[in-house]
Amino acid sequence: MSASIILGIESSCDDTSAAIISGSKILSNIAANQAIHNEYGGVVPELASRAHQQNIIPVVEKAFSKANIQQNDICAIGFTRGPGLLGSLLVGTSFAKSLAMSLDVPLIEVNHLQAHILAHFIDDANPTPPTFPFLCLTVSGGHTMIVLVKDYFDMEIIGKTIDDAAGEAFDKIGKIFDLDYPAGPIIDKLAKEGNPDAFQFNKPRMENYDYSFSGIKTSVLYFIQKEVRKNPDFIKENLNNLCASVQRSIIEILMNKLEKASVDLNIKEVAIAGGVSANSVLRKAMEINQEKLGWNIFIPKFEYTTDNAAMIAIVAKLKYERGEFTDIRTTATAKYDL
Ligand code: KG4
Ligand code: ZN
Repeated sequence: MSASIILGIESSCDDTSAAIISGSKILSNIAANQAIHNEYGGVVPELASRAHQQNIIPVVEKAFSKANIQQNDICAIGFTRGPGLLGSLLVGTSFAKSLAMSLDVPLIEVNHLQAHILAHFIDDANPTPPTFPFLCLTVSGGHTMIVLVKDYFDMEIIGKTIDDAAGEAFDKIGKIFDLDYPAGPIIDKLAKEGNPDAFQFNKPRMENYDYSFSGIKTSVLYFIQKEVRKNPDFIKENLNNLCASVQRSIIEILMNKLEKASVDLNIKEVAIAGGVSANSVLRKAMEINQEKLGWNIFIPKFEYTTDNAAMIAIVAKLKYERGEFTDIRTTATAKYDL
């Protein structure tokens, strides 16, 4: 039997992406980012939906041409049904439904959060895929959670943030430093030239495996306001040290709970996923624990960390094999539990 060829579509936030997968192998993974949000310091939902409308056809066409695949060669279409911004999701959902109808192929809905985690099962994501059960720290702009992955579609959230997500903390603190959106990658870059121990910020005291990131944001804000009153150039003069110190704090908070979960549950298969898993210090911390704690670690390739359609396509492929198809009357959903 030849491998299944599936089109995956992602449009949950501000990236329009399309990918073609053959078996577990990604043939193309195209994304159009929306620079329009940079000047607003965050994603403007209405503008995101409009940009998806403009981007979706060229992105899908490019995915087909890069993969050298004809539309009639695909056997299913996977799309992000949620969670995300409803207006953004509607564009991808409507497009996927229309194309599935016109090509007469089945439609497969995908949960965006499951997709971040299951991206580890893409052919070239890891030398060997994780074995069940494994822990996955899922960290993005909208979510921060420790997930116990018992099977492909049997996941339990054992800890999560009660307020801001880790990516949101990076982005909001970056805004205090007057950095562009999204600030996460910029902080990561500036921190390379800074001293991570230069400044100390409040750490949350949370029960179990839960997180909180609003306290560190407030702590940074008050500290900056105080220092800027004394020296208006404080941020500019200390930017690298500020970024390095903030980054160290956020990553320490993330790793402490992940380490606790690994010890308590006696699970040494540990993965990271989502946009923040691109962070260099988080990646380094995982590598250190591989040595120190004997973890078997799974760190996604950069192209599978931030929102992308390759991760949607692998979930669609796994569901296709299980015969799990979605009714054409399905609708997008902003909230969608794991
Ligand atoms: O998964 P993603 O692309 O979108 C959501 O589903 O939210 O994650 C985007 C988030 C943003 O908050 C961005 O600042 C953060 O991931 N991010 C990073 C890095 N690269 C992206 N945060 C820290 N360090 C990075 N290198
Ligand atoms: Zn995401």
